[in-house]
Amino acid sequence: GTGPGRYYLTGEMVRSWLPSRPPTAHKGNFGHVLVVGGSRGMIGAACLTAAAALRAGAGLVTLAVPRSWQETAATKLTEVMTLGLPETPEGQLSCAAWESLKPLLPRFTVCALGPGLGRHPETVELVKRMVAEIDLPLVLDADGINAFAGEAHLLTRRSSPLILTPHPGEMARLLGVKAAELTDKRVEVAEKAAREWGAVVVLKGARTVVASPDGYTGINSTGNPGMATGGTGDVLTGVIAALWAQGLDPFRAAAAGVYLHGLAGDLAAKEKGEAGLIAGDLLERLPLAWRRVT
Ligand code: APR
Ligand code: MG
Repeated sequence: GTGPGRYYLTGEMVRSWLPSRPPTAHKGNFGHVLVVGGSRGMIGAACLTAAAALRAGAGLVTLAVPRSWQETAATKLTEVMTLGLPETPEGQLSCAAWESLKPLLPRFTVCALGPGLGRHPETVELVKRMVAEIDLPLVLDADGINAFAGEAHLLTRRSSPLILTPHPGEMARLLGVKAAELTDKRVEVAEKAAREWGAVVVLKGARTVVASPDGYTGINSTGNPGMATGGTGDVLTGVIAALWAQGLDPFRAAAAGVYLHGLAGDLAAKEKGEAGLIAGDLLERLPLAWRRVT
C-alpha cells in the first residue's frame, strides 16, 4: 500500500523517490544547503555534515562556523563555501550570529543546524531563536536538539517544516526521561513525537525509525554496528538536508537519507570490516550507495 502505516524501507522505495538529473540540469536545480555548526574542539562534526550534503547531491553547500574556524573549514572542504559568524570566547557561536546570518537566508533552500555546536548558554539561546524564527526547512541535530532538553513543546513554534534526528540519548533528554525507558518502544515513541511536534522524527540506532506527523513510519533495513563511531550521525544530517533540498518531501528525504547512509555504511564494512570503519568512509561511499539503488 501507499497510505499511512509502518513500512520497512527498501531500495525499490528509495529508487522511486530519488531525483534524476536532466541533461540540461544546472546546480541551481539541486538546492543550496546551509550547515550551521561547529565549535572549538568539534569543528569536524560540522565539516562532515557539509561534505555529506555535497556527496548526497546538493547543488551548493555553505558551512557557517564560529569565525576563528572559518579558514580551517575552508581548507578542509574544497567544494564548500564558508561563512564565519560571531563567537563566544570559548569558541562557540554567540547570539549575534543570528543577526549576521539573517540577511543571507533567502539564498538557501534548507538549513541543517546542530552538529558540533556545543552547549554554551549563548549558543543555546541562538539555537532557540533560530528554530523559532528561521523561515527555511530545518534539519535539527545533536546540540541543536539538546538546546531543547525538557522543552520539546518549543519546537512547535515554527512556520516552516522541521526534521529532527536524535539518537536515543538526545531523544530521552528532549522528552525529559531516561534513555532506558525508550529502548522497547522506539517506534511508538518516534510516532508520538512526530504527531505532537508536527515534525518528521528520525530516531537513530540499529533499525532507525523515521516517523512523519501524518502517520507514515519507515523502519530502516540498512546499516551495521561498524557505524557506531563518532561522526556518522553528522553525515546523516547532511544527507537528509541534501535530499530535502533536491525536492523530496521531508518524510522521503529522511527515509531515503537513512537508507542511503546505512547502505554506504554496509559498503564500507564489506571492504574494511566494522571495527576500523570511520565516518569519512561513509562520505566516500555515498555516491556508490546512490548508484546501487538507482
Ligand atoms: N546499527 C546500525 N546503525 C547504527 C548502529 C548500529 N548498531 N550504531 C549507530 N548507527 C548509526 C545510527 O543510526 C546513526 O545514523 O550511526 C549513526 C550515529 O549517529 P549519532 O548517534 O548521532 O552519533 P554521532 O553524531 O556520530 O556522534 C558524535 O554527536 O550527536 C552527538 O551526542 C552525539 O556526542 C555524539 C556526537
Ligand atoms: Mg549525533
